[in-house]
Amino acid sequence: MAIKLIFSSLFLYFFIQTSIAASSSAIFNVTSYGAKADGKTDSTQAFLGAWKAACSSAKAATISVPNGRYLVKNVVFRGPCKKKITVKISGTIVAPSDYRALGNSGYWILFIEVDNLTVTGGNLDAQGAGFWDCRKSGQNCSVGARSITFNWANNVIVTSLTSINSQLAHLVVNSCNNVIVRNVKLIAPDTSPNTDGIHVQSSNGVSITGSTMQTGDDCISIGPGTKNLLMNSIKCGPGHGVSIGSLGKELKEDGVQNITLTNAVFSGSDNGVRIKSWARPSYGFVRNVLFQNIIMKNTKNPIIIDQNYCPNNQGCPNQTSGVKISDITYRNIQGTSATAKAVTFDCSSSTPCEGINLQDIKLTYSNKAATSSCKNINGTSDGVQNPESCL
Ligand SMILES: *[C@@H]1O[C@H](CO)[C@@H](O)[C@H](O)[C@H]1NC(C)=O
Ligand SMILES: *[C@@H]1O[C@H](CO)[C@@H](O)[C@H](O)[C@H]1NC(C)=O
Ligand SMILES: *[C@@H]1O[C@H](CO)[C@@H](O)[C@H](O)[C@H]1NC(C)=O
Ligand SMILES: *[C@@H]1O[C@H](CO)[C@@H](O)[C@H](O)[C@H]1NC(C)=O
Ligand SMILES: *[C@@H]1O[C@H](CO)[C@@H](O)[C@H](O)[C@H]1NC(C)=O
Ligand SMILES: *[C@@H]1O[C@H](CO)[C@@H](O)[C@H](O)[C@H]1NC(C)=O
Repeated sequence: MAIKLIFSSLFLYFFIQTSIAASSSAIFNVTSYGAKADGKTDSTQAFLGAWKAACSSAKAATISVPNGRYLVKNVVFRGPCKKKITVKISGTIVAPSDYRALGNSGYWILFIEVDNLTVTGGNLDAQGAGFWDCRKSGQNCSVGARSITFNWANNVIVTSLTSINSQLAHLVVNSCNNVIVRNVKLIAPDTSPNTDGIHVQSSNGVSITGSTMQTGDDCISIGPGTKNLLMNSIKCGPGHGVSIGSLGKELKEDGVQNITLTNAVFSGSDNGVRIKSWARPSYGFVRNVLFQNIIMKNTKNPIIIDQNYCPNNQGCPNQTSGVKISDITYRNIQGTSATAKAVTFDCSSSTPCEGINLQDIKLTYSNKAATSSCKNINGTSDGVQNPESCL
């Protein structure tokens, strides 16, 4: 009896041990591949070595980036990998302080064709200041680098990541399916050019939740070919707001559809919710968009559709936009506008906006009545309308 018990306990013990080993992931510590936490030794090859081993691991793999600062130049983490990969960052990945070291590829950290990927924790510091200074002084600079980019990746989770001082956009999701971005902080000075927070394009099923963007360009920009995008619990500002567009760069361009933004706060941003397109022919479109439960704090253009988009009036196409904008709902948007014109709908004369719906808008300007303007548009308004609706 006792012996039988010992045997069955032993069996149970080995069974449990084997199950734990099978379910736990293999760990690939970048320091084991030569990375140095001193912030000045080039650890690029060490990161690539850890990636290569993790990507070919027969069981789920975790790449560990311990505390400390790791200097990394451009890296491409290429899939497909054998199993699920987690990149667990405890420390900070830092780019060279001389922006020219990132060259002209346009990327700093790039994941390509990786499925079932989680990137969690830690900090990215692209040290973009030198690049912004070059841009501002009108010199011949390199093209600049986006900090972290996912191309052709599916089932991706990015969580608890902080990115500061990107040269260009902080985080880019391009040609991906099923991406969750949660609890990220993306920070750059409001004077830094083109430092978008998150750029999404050609992607299906992206959700961005519980995140803060304080940047020099759009907090979130949504490019052609984006569908089924959910943004919830977002803080934006400083920055240029949440923008669909700019669209209509090309004649043949994919549309944007089923976009939801809920529970957002815009503080001191140049725009709140914006849709923008260049004034030229295009087969592009925007349809089925909901902006809901939004607070504006001293925002310059809380609600705006701009189909004559042309920053600095340089190289304007001077035509009319072919981008069709339809079925856009603005519901429960309140707070303060930093300009008198709180609602601007400047739609295309050749392709008017249709089905624009305003519900419960309460925007004030210096405690005075704000105004709204409508061009080439039809739609409806319900509930409280302050400013008075022009629809
Ligand atoms: C990685 O290695 C470093 C030192 O080489 C160690 O301090 C750290 O605990 C290791 N991390 C993991 C997750 O194994
Ligand atoms: C990714 O996950 C999907 C769904 O769970 C699975 O079918 C696929 O085999 C996984 N691929 C990798 C590389 O882990
Ligand atoms: C800018 O620099 C690049 C390479 O650094 C060079 O190929 C290009 O000709 C330069 N352009 C001008 C206008 O100087
Ligand atoms: C629209 O997007 C939401 C995510 O915000 C998704 O849950 C829903 O299924 C999508 N609707 C359609 C018709 O695909
Ligand atoms: C567009 O119009 C502006 C002002 O009228 C003019 O300066 C510019 O040259 C025009 N652009 C093109 C491409 O025709
Ligand atoms: C808006 O214009 C379209 C096209 O002319 C028309 O089909 C639709 O009924 C109009 N909707 C409203 C609310 O006027």
